[in-house]
Amino acid sequence: MTKTHDITLIKGDGIGPEITDAVVDILDAAGVKINWDVVDAGITAFDRCGEILPKETLNSIEKNRICLKAPITTPIGHGFKSINVQLRRHFDLYANVRPSRNIPNIITPFQGVDLVIIRENTEDIYAGLEEKIDENTIHGIKLITKQASERICDFAFQYAIKNNRKKVTVATKANISKLADGMFLDCFRQMSQKYSQIEAKEILIDNLCMQLVQNPSQFDVLVMPNLYGDIVSDLCAGLIGGLGVAASANINETSNIAIFEAVHGSAPDIAGKNIANPTGLLLSALQMLNYIKEYEAVNKIEKAFLKTLKEGKALTFDLKGSAATTEFKDEIIKNLV
Ligand code: NAI
Repeated sequence: MTKTHDITLIKGDGIGPEITDAVVDILDAAGVKINWDVVDAGITAFDRCGEILPKETLNSIEKNRICLKAPITTPIGHGFKSINVQLRRHFDLYANVRPSRNIPNIITPFQGVDLVIIRENTEDIYAGLEEKIDENTIHGIKLITKQASERICDFAFQYAIKNNRKKVTVATKANISKLADGMFLDCFRQMSQKYSQIEAKEILIDNLCMQLVQNPSQFDVLVMPNLYGDIVSDLCAGLIGGLGVAASANINETSNIAIFEAVHGSAPDIAGKNIANPTGLLLSALQMLNYIKEYEAVNKIEKAFLKTLKEGKALTFDLKGSAATTEFKDEIIKNLV
């Protein structure tokens, strides 16, 4: 008998509920025993109880330490602050781990992609420090601290060691942002002294974007401040087949609290149509199962997922198929052995 895990589940909004239901069904069919504590956040929570981030949601994550979360809409240019950012900051989930690796049978123009972005997850412009100086002037602060820069660089080197990776590259704009990015780079340089077995490289963020589309296989582990990490991870999702297949984990290794979520957002343009690709959330759930040491289930689901891609009978539109979210999910479940 395997252990039953207590895990917080946030179904989100937009395509969130559709992809969450698919992923929960797959994990269930694979025999993983999870007692899901379903709570809400964002618009759905506001509609239910008048709060966008209810106390019971925070309490559930605090208690269970593990959360699987679907995307939550953030109003653009006005309205409430991102719930995703609030959750990361509330639980100090300082490391955002975003693997990007070619998936067999998902054809893209880019080969040999096998890299991991380690994105600082608590500072930078996401600290929300903006003020209106006058009608025509806004002052936006990019917050970078030594403490947060050191711990994310340390995390990146530790990650490289634990995952048998050879190289960590830091990406900054330290030629322009001499103080903020300059300090991040200094912290990286100092931290690299502690890890002489790992190759340490530096690159400017604009050059990184160009190099990623010309020769992505040269990169291994990448570490960078929050905003660059956000943008570059969408670019890297594009290298391996799009936002529908990109996974991520938000981790604090000290408190052992972790939130697993797809890289993509709530995709309002396709919400409610039963056509969204649940792969990003599924691969995030596999990161979660690895984290809770359910290795057998990971292996089983991975095999079924890869077989489904290879057969190509039930792929979603973004993978050049025409299957519904539920048909793709059913095919994966059928392929579980
Ligand atoms: P988005 O990631 O939701 O969508 C970008 C494009 O990718 C759209 O064309 C969409 O249809 C497509 N796409 C995304 N996920 C897909 C999937 N699973 N299958 C197939 N196609 C998929 O980004 P957008 O439109 O910029 O943001 C929408 C909302 O999501 C915003 O309110 C944003 O703040 C929020 N958001 C939430 C995140 C989270 O909860 N972690 C992360 C990113 C954005």
